[in-house]
Amino acid sequence: MKRLAILGSTGSIGVNTLNVARHLKDEVCIEALAAKSNIDLLEQQVKEFKPKIIAVFDSEKALELQRRLPKSTILTGMDGLNAVASYPSANLVISAMTGTLGLIPTMKALESRKNVGLANKEALVSGGSLVMSLAESNGCKIIPIDSEHSALFQCLKGEEPKTVHRLILTASGGPFRNYTAEQLSQITVDCALRHPTWSMGPKVTIDSSTLMNKGLEVIEAYWLFGIPIEKIEVVVHPQSLIHSIVEFVDGSMLAQMSEPSMIVPIQYAITYPERRKGIHPYYDFLKNPLIQFFPPDVNKFPCLQLAYDAIRTGGSLPCYMNAANEVLVNRFIARQFSWQEIPIRLEKLMTRHQTKKISSLEDVLAVDEIARQEAIL
Ligand SMILES: NC(=O)c1ccc[n+]([C@@H]2O[C@H](COP(=O)([O-])OP(=O)(O)OC[C@H]3O[C@@H](n4cnc5c(N)ncnc54)[C@H](OP(=O)(O)O)[C@@H]3O)[C@@H](O)[C@H]2O)c1
Repeated sequence: MKRLAILGSTGSIGVNTLNVARHLKDEVCIEALAAKSNIDLLEQQVKEFKPKIIAVFDSEKALELQRRLPKSTILTGMDGLNAVASYPSANLVISAMTGTLGLIPTMKALESRKNVGLANKEALVSGGSLVMSLAESNGCKIIPIDSEHSALFQCLKGEEPKTVHRLILTASGGPFRNYTAEQLSQITVDCALRHPTWSMGPKVTIDSSTLMNKGLEVIEAYWLFGIPIEKIEVVVHPQSLIHSIVEFVDGSMLAQMSEPSMIVPIQYAITYPERRKGIHPYYDFLKNPLIQFFPPDVNKFPCLQLAYDAIRTGGSLPCYMNAANEVLVNRFIARQFSWQEIPIRLEKLMTRHQTKKISSLEDVLAVDEIARQEAIL
C-alpha cells in the first residue's frame, strides 16, 4: 500500500495526485495533507480522503478549518508542514508546494527516512547538494514528478551513468516561441498566464513563458542524475509529446513519450517501481503525426542562459537566482513591470551577488532571504 503525505494538496500537482489516488484507491491511501490557505478545497479533500492529519500554513485559515472540521487534527505553520512531511505511517511524501519554502518539509521527509515524489523543483535548485546527500545517507529514493525528469528517470532505469552521452530536456517553448521583438515588448500578464500545452499554477506558467522553468529543470536534472552540466541540453519540441531523451555513448537514444498530462508522471512516481493502468485513453499517433525540434533562442529568452550560468558558477548563485526570480515573477504578475524586464532585472541582481558556499539549510534560507530583499527593490 502506498500511504501518501501531500505537501501542496490544493495545487495543480496536488489535485492531480489525488486524482491518481482516487483512480488507484485499492492501493493508495492518504495519510496527511498540507496547503497554504485554500481551506475550501482542502475541506472537500479531507471529507473525501480522510487524512489523519492536516496542515494549513496560514494560522487564521487553520483555525477556520478547525471550526469547520472539529474532529480533525489540524496543525499550522512550518511545524504543521513538518508534521505532515514526517507523519509516521506515510511511506511516500509528495513534495508539491510552490517555492523554496518547500525545501524545509522536503528535508524533514528525508530526515524521517521517507521516499519523496518531488515536484517542487525550487527545493533542488536552492538546496540540491543538501537534498541529494541527505537522501543518499538516509537511503531514501527521490522519484521525480516533473514530466521531463520523470522521463529521464524512466529512460535511465537500469543504465550505468557513465554510459550517458547527453541528457536532452524537451521544452514546449512556451506561448511566445514565435513572437517578434515587437510582440515580446507587448506581452501582458493574462497572455503570459495562458500556456499552450500544460495547465499549471501561475508561478510555473510564467517561468515557462520566460524559459526560466527550463533553466530550473536543467539544474534539477544536474542534481537528480549527477550528470555534468556540459552534458545537459535543451531542445524545443512544441508538441510536448516527448518529455525528454537520454542519448548513450553508443549513439542509441531512449525517449519517453505520453500525452502532455501530469497524471502520467505523478502515477509513475506513486506506483514506482511498478506500473498500473493509467487514467487517460491510450495515445492515438495519427491524431498528431507531427513531431518537431528547434534550438532554444537564448537571445529572446535569456533566463535559460542565466540558469546555466548559475549552476556553472555554483555555490549560492542558483539559490539566489531562484528566489530573486520568484519575487520578480510575482511583481510581474502584480503588473509592476513588463515581461521583458524579468530577465533584465534578474541578470543585474545575479551580477551583484557575491557567491558563497552553501553547507546547511540555514545557509540556503539566508541567501534566499537576501535575494528576496534585493529583488523587491
Ligand atoms: N503544475 C505542473 O504541471 C508542474 C509540473 C512540474 C513541476 N511543478 C512544480 O510543482 C510545484 C507545485 O506547482 P503547482 O503548479 O501545483 O502550483 P500551484 O497550483 O500554485 O499550487 C501550489 C500548492 O502549494 C501550496 N502552498 C504554497 N505555499 C505553501 C505554504 N507556505 N505552505 C503550505 N502549502 C503551500 C498551495 O496551497 P494553497 O492552494 O492553499 O495556496 C498549493 O497547494 C512547483 O514547484 C512547480 O514548479 C508543477
